[in-house]
Amino acid sequence: MSPRSPESPVRAGSTLEPATSRRGAILVMDDEEIMRDILETLLTREGYAVRLASTGAEGLELARTYPFDAAVVDVMMPGLDGMQALEELRKIDDELPVIMITAYASVENAILAMKRGAFDYITKPFKNDEVVAVLRNASERNRLVAENRALRQNIQERYSKFANIVGRSPKMRQVFDLIIQAAPSRSTILIQGESGTGKELVARAIHANSPRADRAFVTVNSGNLPPDLLESTLFGHVRGAFTGAVNPKKGLCDLADKGSIFFDEIGNVPLETQAKLLRVMQEREFMRLGGMETIRVDVRIIAATNVDLKQMTDEGRFREDLYYRLHVINVQLPPLRERNEDIPLLAQHFLRKYGSENGRGSLELTPEALDLLMDCDWPGNVRELENVIERAVVLSSAPRIGSDLIPDSVRRSPAFQMPRLTVPPEGISFKDVISDFEKRLIESTLEAAGGVQKRAAELLHIKPTTLNEMLKRFDIRPKRRKSGDASPP
Ligand SMILES: Nc1ncnc2c1ncn2[C@@H]1O[C@H](COP(=O)(O)OP(=O)(O)OP(=O)(O)O)[C@@H](O)[C@H]1O
Ligand SMILES: [Mg+2]
Repeated sequence: MSPRSPESPVRAGSTLEPATSRRGAILVMDDEEIMRDILETLLTREGYAVRLASTGAEGLELARTYPFDAAVVDVMMPGLDGMQALEELRKIDDELPVIMITAYASVENAILAMKRGAFDYITKPFKNDEVVAVLRNASERNRLVAENRALRQNIQERYSKFANIVGRSPKMRQVFDLIIQAAPSRSTILIQGESGTGKELVARAIHANSPRADRAFVTVNSGNLPPDLLESTLFGHVRGAFTGAVNPKKGLCDLADKGSIFFDEIGNVPLETQAKLLRVMQEREFMRLGGMETIRVDVRIIAATNVDLKQMTDEGRFREDLYYRLHVINVQLPPLRERNEDIPLLAQHFLRKYGSENGRGSLELTPEALDLLMDCDWPGNVRELENVIERAVVLSSAPRIGSDLIPDSVRRSPAFQMPRLTVPPEGISFKDVISDFEKRLIESTLEAAGGVQKRAAELLHIKPTTLNEMLKRFDIRPKRRKSGDASPP
């Protein structure tokens, strides 16, 4: 706990002289005059009161004298450097959000800073908007902290509700904002994103940040049940509803009453069940299988999908009315390849997670290993990254994890090359060449995908159904490789 916090429980907007303002007071520590000037101009314009320090020592002196709402600290300073300053600032006030400024080349430093409790980091050269956004987040956190304290809430618990979703890219920040805005209502939420992007994590965060947090969060795996079973699982059944229904049974909708129900892979719900879901959504009521009685429920519905539901509605495979009901609030999770900047943070998060699970001390990646991770396309998104880190942690014997522990599969493979074509003097059938080429491309892709058709379709950017048609057309029978096996004989 900070030695000063009792006197300054609410820092934002407090009436301190002379560095006060509506937005709050910021301490800037940077040895470069030009940087100080830029930050001062920018932050003053944004309504912050700014104090400048040209050395770490000077900055700490200010921090001991005045309360601040955030500090912006350059990592590279002569004398007391940014890291040391961070450590000292944390001793002075462990709740002060400290934002580190680093050169892009020293992302490693930034990670280290985050480990040591920095609130965030900004890389040089930065955009003004970025600085403003980070500071806004910091003051928002301050505001929440103060508010929570006033409400005597358990701060720790409050933050842990988000702590497991890692990300600082603008796209993920938008996701966080949306969660915060949407969580309190009962509105239906549709989460869309590729496999492994964190859809379930987000669904849980929405529930955890909603007034329903104390009630059940029920997951329905819509995909793997035949329609009857899915319906009886959802709505329960009365005795004798079908052969084998000896006793009446309640369903997941009963269980989720006053809580949230999460439909994973909603695109897999068969059309006939979709109508019943629509009713739950619109009327908040349902009937048991074989039953006559209408049962009312109060549930919050969250759904996730990794397929394009809009397209499914166009093709008549998903009810349009249900689609629009679901689509009230839409959370779009970006694939990992579109937010590379999150990779260091995620890697660090998983190193910590699997490090402690495996009883290892603090682990870190070598810059070369991190480079490899940054270069990868991550078709399996965060889940794939998580698996790679877990494997590396288990296999490593040293605290530093090098590129040798990053499996070849995630290294960016050599670019695709078209074969050189030589047309024989007598000419050649265009159609035959094309279909031969198609066939070979599909065979190679299937091999690369270990025989998994869904994955092969992803690799070729085509729909699984299209791939399936082509397999039939070319009479290709994919051999599925068991994981761990070497290539087929
Ligand atoms: N932003 C994130 N921060 C930390 N961990 C994450 C993040 N996103 C995903 N993960 C982790 O990656 C794994 C996959 O996440 P999740 O199950 O939520 O993905 P999904 O989108 O539901 O995938 P699928 O479509 O395959 O079901 C989980 O172990 C989850 O904890
Ligand atoms: Mg999922």
